[in-house]
Amino acid sequence: MAQKVTKAIFPVAGLGTRFLPATKSVPKEIMTLVDRPLIQYAIDEARAAGIKEFIFVTSRGKGALEDYFDHAPQLEAELERKGKTDLLDVLNETNMESGAVAYVRQHMAKGLGHAVWCARRLVGNEPVAVLLPDDVIAAEKPCLQQMVEAYEETGGNMVAAMEVPEAKTSSYGVLDVKEDHGNLVSVNGMVEKPKAGTAPSNLAVIGRYILTPKVLDNLNAMEEGAGGEIQLTDAIAKEIAASDDVYGFRFRGQRFDCGSKAGFLQATVAFGLQRPDLKDELEQYLVELAAVRQAAQ
Ligand code: G1P
Repeated sequence: MAQKVTKAIFPVAGLGTRFLPATKSVPKEIMTLVDRPLIQYAIDEARAAGIKEFIFVTSRGKGALEDYFDHAPQLEAELERKGKTDLLDVLNETNMESGAVAYVRQHMAKGLGHAVWCARRLVGNEPVAVLLPDDVIAAEKPCLQQMVEAYEETGGNMVAAMEVPEAKTSSYGVLDVKEDHGNLVSVNGMVEKPKAGTAPSNLAVIGRYILTPKVLDNLNAMEEGAGGEIQLTDAIAKEIAASDDVYGFRFRGQRFDCGSKAGFLQATVAFGLQRPDLKDELEQYLVELAAVRQAAQ
């Protein structure tokens, strides 16, 4: 039986330059989709999948992230005094169990593989999930939970996968598909950010992974890949060659690329429309807006 996945790595060291000037003083992961920071969506997804230990790979200027997961005694006392129990409940949902959160710094921006490698001692000799908070996935059953359930059958390594337009494949890790079984695909290889026209398929890796300790070992070699960075994709690809124990998993759900402004805006609208307290007003606005724009054409 596959060993249980109870730890997750959240690489959050990026500078977030695409969101300047906001990210000059606010970590990208604290930016809000409706009223919850991006990172909260990833945490909730990890919790739903049974994750108990949360490892953040941070960098300089990410202090607000650490504070976010801390208790806020003054604020809590004030809300208590005013009898605002609904807001206290909202805060309580964000509190993490003592000792469940660990931070490790990535001192140099050497890529995603390097960020994951920085967490290796905290992971030890067990499987670990990796969640990239930029990839927000709206799903009835949270994406990582779907993956953990599939992993319980397969063991090994698993990456979330989704078809993308061919013209976009150069922005992703791309799977070279061996056998396609629908939800699960076996792979011959994986390529990080293939040059235009060279992608082995249009099945792209999305930011959810379940990794064996072997992949973290592979990162020790510190081999540079696409863009001169140490790529997680390459360390996983090595495992395909060594053990053939890598699966792509087509998740059910809608993925938003919150690393881009357009994706972030789309996610804001989509999550706003799911909120009972906002849905009607937002929907009415969108309908009116569409009508006004059409009339102006
Ligand atoms: C990272 C990974 C890439 C993956 C993508 C998913 O790239 O390196 O393999 O397809 O996340 O969002 P990034 O978007 O950080 O450049």
